[in-house]
Amino acid sequence: SAPLRLGIAGLGTVGAGVIRLLATNADLVTARAGRPLKVTAVSARDRTRDRGVDLSGMRWYDNAPDLVADPDVDVVVELIGGAEGTARAVVEAALAAGKPVVTANKALLAIHGPALARLSAEKSAPLLFEAAVAGGIPAIKMVREGLAADRLLRIGGILNGTCNYILTVMRETGKDFGTVLADAQQLGYAEADPSTDIDGLDAAHKLTILAGLAFGQPVAFESLHVEGIRRIGALDLTFARTLGYRIKLLGMARMSEAGLEARVTPCLVPENAPIAQVDGVFNAVVAEGAFAGRLMIEGRGAGAGPTASAVAADLIDVARGHTIPVWGVQATDTPPLQANPVSAG
Ligand code: NDP
Ligand code: HSE
Repeated sequence: SAPLRLGIAGLGTVGAGVIRLLATNADLVTARAGRPLKVTAVSARDRTRDRGVDLSGMRWYDNAPDLVADPDVDVVVELIGGAEGTARAVVEAALAAGKPVVTANKALLAIHGPALARLSAEKSAPLLFEAAVAGGIPAIKMVREGLAADRLLRIGGILNGTCNYILTVMRETGKDFGTVLADAQQLGYAEADPSTDIDGLDAAHKLTILAGLAFGQPVAFESLHVEGIRRIGALDLTFARTLGYRIKLLGMARMSEAGLEARVTPCLVPENAPIAQVDGVFNAVVAEGAFAGRLMIEGRGAGAGPTASAVAADLIDVARGHTIPVWGVQATDTPPLQANPVSAG
């Protein structure tokens, strides 16, 4: 059958990873999608940069939003990043044109998710974002599909690979914060501005998305309590170990009678707890449903391979005719849910 034609905006760690995966796994992706997935158009800032992947036969756009109107692009893949600017313009233009969008952009979803969900519904243009939460872990599918029939009580976990990598390597090797952060950047784990990782904002973006899916209503990102790992030093890690604990940056949201409580904060976790064993770039997503009980999935939360795997899985879903609404329920005009009302315990 005719190929599904992809326009990829952003050819960095994730974009190049997606092109590599689609080339390497072409046969199995075609079999599972029911048709070939073909990259017909690409965009990035620097046309001359060697990205280690074959871009021949792909039309190049200097201005990413122009790629949306290319008649040979059926699906737009946004892998630029950032809640505003070009990334937002690309996603809005694609949805407005009725083209399905696949993105890994958690900042965009956390901040503009409600408006994008409305546009997606109005234009019947699917918006998929599996890669936006916890890299290679199918966290969105777990919550929106696997637990679709359950009432969720709690959702969260270790949601930032860069922070978990920094805390793990500092604990295991005694290397200083700056050196380990530079390693995480080199490995392609960190955001373009790594303060987004270390100040807890990236984990908060992901928690906003997970809580929106878990509780069936978008959540106001700015209402989350957010604290990162900037103030954690070698001494804290040593004291924690002496007391039988590990320090983990956890994001956790729970619904109580008082409302939604949602926070990202460094926590002391007993070292024999399953989540304490999740080290390095690994993330863990924990959920608790009234019927399903507690579950946890663990896997690589950042990096080219795991993230490309999640993006490509979304592309297969588009090829198969994905129809699930963005938040799992039809978009409404209800304002996003505020977390941490004063009375919440
Ligand atoms: P990179 O910084 O590696 O890549 C960003 C890409 O976007 C680059 O190719 C850059 O071009 C391009 N770009 C930047 N500005 C523009 C613009 N104005 N127009 C066109 N292209 C532009 O980021 P990542 O690949 O790491 O991340 C991409 C997205 O995936 C982000 O939303 C990120 O949060 C998300 N993500 C990343 C993960 C990871 O492990 N890295 C994991 C999960 C999600 P050029 O190369 O020419 O500079
Ligand atoms: N910077 C992010 C992280 C990428 O370290 O978890 C994956 O979303």
